[in-house]
Amino acid sequence: MISEQFSQTLIDWQKVHGRHHLPWQYAHPYARWISEIMLQQTQVSTVIEYYDRFMKRFPTVQSLAEASEDEVMQYWSGLGYYSRARNLHKSAKIIVYDHKGVFPTTRLEWESLPGVGRSTAAAIVAFSFGAKETILDGNVKRVLMRYFCLDAPVDNGETTKKLWDLAENLLPQNDIEAYIQGLMDLGATVCTRTPKCVICPFRETCQALLNGKQGDIPAPRKKLNRLEKERTFFLLWHEDGCLLQKRSARGVWRGLFSLPEREGEMSEEDISEALSAQGFMIKNIRRLESFHHDFSHYRLVLHPWAIHIKNPDTVKNDERWAKVAELSDIGLPAPIRGLLERFFARESDEDLLPVFSLDR
Ligand code: ADE
Repeated sequence: MISEQFSQTLIDWQKVHGRHHLPWQYAHPYARWISEIMLQQTQVSTVIEYYDRFMKRFPTVQSLAEASEDEVMQYWSGLGYYSRARNLHKSAKIIVYDHKGVFPTTRLEWESLPGVGRSTAAAIVAFSFGAKETILDGNVKRVLMRYFCLDAPVDNGETTKKLWDLAENLLPQNDIEAYIQGLMDLGATVCTRTPKCVICPFRETCQALLNGKQGDIPAPRKKLNRLEKERTFFLLWHEDGCLLQKRSARGVWRGLFSLPEREGEMSEEDISEALSAQGFMIKNIRRLESFHHDFSHYRLVLHPWAIHIKNPDTVKNDERWAKVAELSDIGLPAPIRGLLERFFARESDEDLLPVFSLDR
């Protein structure tokens, strides 16, 4: 049977060559849930540090449910895709207050929680309870499409349905944890975009390799014409602090602190006028280097301006002044954290100060 050969080969390979010492690799739904959510869009090497910090602060689902959203966002700050953190927090409350702290045990129950799709739910129950469920993330799709030499567009409904069916049929009777981990490990370390077929346990049976098509499957996605959004960011500063604004409206950074921003690229005159209208007295203003940050669906082009403020007492409800030393304890989007770090590192370098524009 092709399925037994496939699963046994993968299990044997995983036990020798797979990953065995990741910090979430033990059978507990809380650890498995948190790690799978973090790993949805982020590599293992990045996740480890975030996972360890998160679990130290929120060691139980109760502690997560009782935390403020601000604090959860702070611990997610820099990982990106912040809806994951907001959903995690919502789900923790559902588990604690609606399910009396008892974790779901089936894939379908997990799937009913915000932010948990079929593949994530399957990984959680397979790793926590040994449930016979298959995953199908981007890496696994690539492995299966090559193994079966499926020359089809990777992201259409028909291909996805076919892959779920194939993945289900391949599931072994035993050793489900090693099998699921093996799928992940093979996809992440061997059957990569440029595959390392010489060390692959399927080098004699992979249909794509046998047909010389391993480099062509899956076909690269059509390059999407990434939308660009331009924004002007105000880095209002005074002594060793800057003004932060809580993002409460809709948007990718909801729940985080950021800098006040406006649509488009503003001129110095427009910025001065807008800030004066808010009551700020400006000591000096200067343009910082523009840069971009890519989201999955658009590119954000940031045009930051550093504005030295004379009267830092002017704040709105959703704003606060934060000292540089406090920034590490505040949930900030990664590009904003980077901008502030660069700015304050340079600002404290006295030699550079005269280069900035003249004080008013
Ligand atoms: N990617 C998604 N889930 C993972 C896991 N549990 N281990 C390693 N990589 C993963």
